[in-house]
Amino acid sequence: MAVCDAVHFPPMLKLWAEYVILSNPVPGPLLGLILAILAPGAVLAQQCKGPVAPFLVQDGGIQAPLCGLIGDVGRGRALVAGRQGNCLACHAAPIPEQAFHGDIGPPLHGVARRRSAAELRLQVVDAGQLNARTVMPPFHRVAGLTGVRPDRIGHPLLTAAEVEDVIAYLLTLDGKPARQ
Ligand code: HEC
Repeated sequence: MAVCDAVHFPPMLKLWAEYVILSNPVPGPLLGLILAILAPGAVLAQQCKGPVAPFLVQDGGIQAPLCGLIGDVGRGRALVAGRQGNCLACHAAPIPEQAFHGDIGPPLHGVARRRSAAELRLQVVDAGQLNARTVMPPFHRVAGLTGVRPDRIGHPLLTAAEVEDVIAYLLTLDGKPARQ
C-alpha cells in the first residue's frame, strides 16, 4: 500500500493544483496585479540608483517622468524662484515676491500652453538637446561639462525629483489668470 501511495500521490497533487487554479480565478489576476505593481517599481528603483536618472528622448521630449516620480507644484515653484534653480536669472515668471526677473530667456508665463510636459522636461533636463547653442544650463546632465566645482562633479544641478517638481510647477503656467 505504501508503494502504491507513493506512485499515485504526484498525479493526485497535480490534479489538486489544477483544480485550485481552475476553480479559483483570483490567484492568476491577483498575481498579475501584484507583479504589475512590484515589477516597474523594482525596475525604477534600480534605474534611479545613481545621481542621474536614465531617460529616453522621443518626439522632441522626454515623455516619461524621471524615475516615474510625481512632482510637487509648491516645491517646484520654490526651486524656480530660489537660488538652486536660478531660473529667474534668465526668465520672468509669475513670482511677484522676487524683485529680479531676467530676460535672457523667454518669459515663462503661459509656457504650458506652448510646450508639452515632455518638451518642458527635456528643456530642463538638457536644453542643449533642443538648441545646441542655448545658454540655459543642463539641469540634469553631468557628462561633458567643464569648469564644475570638484565636489559637484557627478551631481546634477537638480535631482530627478527636483526636475519633476519644476515640471509640475511649469505645467501650472497655463495662461489662466489665477495662475498667470
Ligand atoms: C542662463 C540663462 C538661463 C537659465 C539660468 C535658465 N534658462 Fe530656461 N531658457 C533660457 C533660454 C536662452 C531659453 C530659450 C530657448 C533655449 O535657448 O533653450 C530658455 C528656454 C526655457 C524654456 C522654454 C520656454 C518657451 O517659451 O518655450 C523653459 C520652459 C525654461 N527655459 C525653463 C527654465 C527653468 C525652469 C529654469 C530653472 C530651473 C531655467 N529655464 C533656467 C535661458 C535660461
